[in-house]
Amino acid sequence: MQNDVIAIVMAAGKGTRMKSKKSKLVQKIYGKEIIKRSVENAQKAGIEDIVAIVGYQKEEIQEVLGNTVKYAMQEEQLGTGHAVMQTTQFLEGKKGKVLVLNGDVPLIRPETLKKLVEKSTENKEYATLLTAIYDDPTGYGRIIRDEGGNIKGIVEHKDATEEQKEIKEINAGIYCFDIEELLKALKEIKPNNVQGEYYLTDVIKIMNDKGLKTGAVIVEDNTEILGINDRIQLEILTRILRMRINTEMMRKGVTIEDTNTTYIYDDVEIGMDTVRHPNTTIKSDVKIGEDCEIGPNAYIREGCQIADKVKIGSFVEVKKAIIATGSKVPHLSYMGDCEIGEKCNIGCGTITCNYDGFNKSKTIIGDHSFIGSNTNLVAPVTLGDNTFIAAGSTITEDVPADSLAIARQRQINKEGWNKNK
Ligand code: UD1
Ligand code: CA
Repeated sequence: MQNDVIAIVMAAGKGTRMKSKKSKLVQKIYGKEIIKRSVENAQKAGIEDIVAIVGYQKEEIQEVLGNTVKYAMQEEQLGTGHAVMQTTQFLEGKKGKVLVLNGDVPLIRPETLKKLVEKSTENKEYATLLTAIYDDPTGYGRIIRDEGGNIKGIVEHKDATEEQKEIKEINAGIYCFDIEELLKALKEIKPNNVQGEYYLTDVIKIMNDKGLKTGAVIVEDNTEILGINDRIQLEILTRILRMRINTEMMRKGVTIEDTNTTYIYDDVEIGMDTVRHPNTTIKSDVKIGEDCEIGPNAYIREGCQIADKVKIGSFVEVKKAIIATGSKVPHLSYMGDCEIGEKCNIGCGTITCNYDGFNKSKTIIGDHSFIGSNTNLVAPVTLGDNTFIAAGSTITEDVPADSLAIARQRQINKEGWNKNK
C-alpha cells in the first residue's frame, strides 16, 4: 500500500445503547478496546498517519490510543460529514487517498482495507465505498445504483422511500476518498434530511453530479463490517473474533477439540500438533511450541513461553512462565514468574509463591527436577538441575543440583491414641 495514505477514524459519537458509564468505544472486545482494534486494523493495512475524531468522552479514548494517532475535536456531534470536516487541518494541501472508518466497526480485515484503497487507485475513483449485501438491511444506508450498475448515491434508512428500503446493498461506513475532492465536496453538504445532520454519505452524490468517478468494493465476509451498539452485539462480535482465531490455529495445525470453549487472545503462537482440550484460555503474548498438550481447564496467562512437548494439564494456571522442552505440569498448580528447565515433573498442587504483597519474585527450576505434590516454592528461590523435592515441602531456600530437599514437619504416630479416646 502507498505509504502516503491517511486514515480517519470517527470516534466522537455518543452510543447510548451500551448502557455504560464509559464510552462505547473503550469497551473491550476479546480483551482489547473497540477503538484500539479499529486503529490497529488501519495500522496493519500499512497506514501510519491516522487521525481520530473525538468528542464525546474524548479523554477515555485518548487514554487508550495515546500518541499512536493525531486528534481532531468535534465538540458537537452534528453528523458523520461534520465529523470529517473537523479533520480539514490534517488534509489541506495534501494529495492522494484518505481512508475513512467508523470507529465502532472493529472486525474489518486489514486486507479488505488494502483492497479498497488499491481498487480506488487502480480505477481512478474519487470515492470508493465498502458495501455488503444483507438479508436484513434495516438501519443501514442503502446503495443507489443506476441500470448500468454505477453508484449514484447513498440514502439513509430514515430518509429512504419504501422502494429504496427494499435495496439489500448497504453502506459499511468505510470509504476511500481522493483528499482534494473530498475537501471540496464536504463544503457542499447540507443538513437537509430527517435527522438534520451533515451526512458524509452525501459526498457520493455531490461527486457524481460533478462527473467524478465513484465505485464500490462488495465485502465477501459480511461479519467484517458489523458494528457494535449494545452489549448483545458486543458478545456476537466477540464470538466471531474468537472463532476467527480458532479457525486460523486449526489451519496452522493445532488440534482444538471444542472450539466453543477454547479461547485464544491476540498475539498467540501455537506450534503444529499441539492439542487443545476443552475449557482452556490463552491470553495475549504467549508462545507455545509443537506437540504440547493443553487442558482441559487450563489458564495460560500473558508472557508465557512454552517449548515443545510440554503438558499443561487440568486446573493449572501459568503466568510469565518459561517452560523448556518435555516438562509437565499435569494438575492443580499455579506456576507464575518462573523458569522451568527441560523434562521436569511438577507434581500435583505445586504453587510458586511469587508475591509477598509488594513485589513479584522469580522461581527457577533446573533441568530434570522432580517436584513432589503439594509443594510451595517461596520465591525468590532457585532449584538446581536434577533436584528432588519431597511432597508437602515449603521451600524457602535454594536447593543445590542433584539434591533431595525435605521441608516439612516429621510425622509422629501416637499408638493407641484413638482407641482410648
Ligand atoms: C453510518 C452511515 C450509514 C452506514 C452506517 C454503517 C452516515 C450518514 N451514515 O450510519 O450509511 O450504513 O454508518 O455502520 O454516515 N460519529 C462522529 N460524529 C458524529 C456522528 C457520528 O464521530 O457527529 C461517529 C460515531 O462515533 C461512529 C460513526 O461516526 O463511530 C458512525 O456514526 P453512527 O451514528 O453510528 O452512523 P450510522 O447512523 O450508523
Ligand atoms: Ca453505527
